[in-house]
Amino acid sequence: MSITQRILDFFKKKSQIIEEVENQAKTKQEKMGKMTARQRIESLLDKDTFHEYDLFVEHKAEDFGMDKKFLPGDGVITGTGKILGFPVCIYAQDFTVAGGSLGLAHARKITKIMDHALNLGIPLIGINDSGGARIQEGVNSLAGYGEIFFRNTRASGVIPQISVILGPCAGGAVYSPALTDFVFVVNKISKMFITGPEVIKTVLGEEISMEDLGGARVQAEISGNAHFYADTEFECFEQIKKLVTFIPWNNRKKADTFPIKPPKSIKTISTIMPKDNTEPYDVRDIIKAIADDSDFFEIQQFWADNIVIGFLRIQGETIGVVANQPMVLAGVLDVDSSDKAARFIRFCDSFNIPLLTLVDLPGYLPGIDQEHSGVIRHGAKILYAYSEATVLKITVIMRKAYGGGYIAMCSRHLGADFVFAWPMAEIAVMGPEGAANIIFKKEIEGAENPDEMRKLKVQEYTEKFANPYKAASAGYVDAVINPEETREYIIHALQIGINKQVENPKRKHGIPPF
Ligand code: HXC
Repeated sequence: MSITQRILDFFKKKSQIIEEVENQAKTKQEKMGKMTARQRIESLLDKDTFHEYDLFVEHKAEDFGMDKKFLPGDGVITGTGKILGFPVCIYAQDFTVAGGSLGLAHARKITKIMDHALNLGIPLIGINDSGGARIQEGVNSLAGYGEIFFRNTRASGVIPQISVILGPCAGGAVYSPALTDFVFVVNKISKMFITGPEVIKTVLGEEISMEDLGGARVQAEISGNAHFYADTEFECFEQIKKLVTFIPWNNRKKADTFPIKPPKSIKTISTIMPKDNTEPYDVRDIIKAIADDSDFFEIQQFWADNIVIGFLRIQGETIGVVANQPMVLAGVLDVDSSDKAARFIRFCDSFNIPLLTLVDLPGYLPGIDQEHSGVIRHGAKILYAYSEATVLKITVIMRKAYGGGYIAMCSRHLGADFVFAWPMAEIAVMGPEGAANIIFKKEIEGAENPDEMRKLKVQEYTEKFANPYKAASAGYVDAVINPEETREYIIHALQIGINKQVENPKRKHGIPPF
């Protein structure tokens, strides 16, 4: 056969596979309100940058009539491309081919692109739309999952890993996203669960829809499995594009810097902060008043919203922010908010992103529910994550910093490089009310007018301890600053701290309170 004929044959074979599958897929996916796997890749990546690999891979399964089944691409498309010029490895499962189920060949295509991402030092994006382990392939499918989880874990903290759930993600399939850094879900399309409604009905006799069991809202608001929620696939891809602008290719690089834009927020910090220190405010307004272009990219916006995490830029440089949210539960730390913050701190630390901590909290949330849910174990995660982090750590104590909350929110004692406090900061073991009730109990009880005495003692305690000067006199706070100077102080700290290099003691790894 001539060379020309061979080339023509190749194009015919390639276009046959792609076109036939794509035409069928379009009809099937459209019915479910979904894009096809190929459309998804094309919408997410820069135009004409996608290079597909392993299109001709075929499965070798024989049981249950599989020997007669041709599954194009074995139900997954893999390759490399660019997002806003940023190189990525990507795979997208094709639900129209055997339900996107994961057999051995399918898994090996994924693990190959994962290895590629790790070796090349570029992010991995996985688009999940699958019925889980390919039932006909038995243990080989399970082996495939195991090999994926192994690679997710090895790549953790080395390259950013992004999971996009655009269909079912059932059974063991959920654990790959759970091991990655960011999980994106889309309303009405994403469904994540370990055991589906059928199994739940059989085992527990309970009826529940897939949506109520593990739909996008559930994952974004209740379980905290998802980091980003979108109403459409298009919106989801826009979110991913924005995310990649904030993060580096790998743990040896820094995130790209962008042109400096001053905050455009019209609110100054003094106008955002309420006159009464018991009144709430939205800490996002503070973040926007500090951020370049007042642009704040929030992560896990709908879950554990007593803490706010996300990316912003200051002088063009990516910063990760962790901020108590006084609007929700007065910004306390609890089981979920500790989990949320700790994981984000570890991401920033792994990927050379400086951390900014904005403090205003009355402490850890008291109560039986929290104690029994393991607030000790979960609360320890944030202590561990901050103490372990060696990136530049800048802390601003805005208002309350009581008790364990003061220590946990990146205090000097956990290795903060710069600690600033606003003049209205209150740094104490606990709130003045509680403190006065305990240490002046006898005086209050023995007074002619206990209420009057309590007021006096609360005032006395407030004047003595609920201010930043005690902490500043001990050197725990570096500077008490005018709130309006906060951005300026952060910029200076970033400039001064640009070459920070601290190493943790040599060890195989620590043992965080997982
Ligand atoms: C093989 C599968 C499959 C699977 C779906 N299909 N899941 N084939 N293995 N796991 C096939 C169907 O046979 C069908 O093929 C096509 O995909 C579409 O599936 P439907 O059921 O028609 O689609 P839909 O009604 O939309 O329902 C989607 C679904 C459902 C909710 C995902 O298919 C489902 O519940 N599948 C099983 C989910 C599950 O329990 N997986 C866990 C497996 S165990 P045809 O030829 O008819 O088009 C597991 C353990 C791994 O994952 C542990 C690792 C740690």
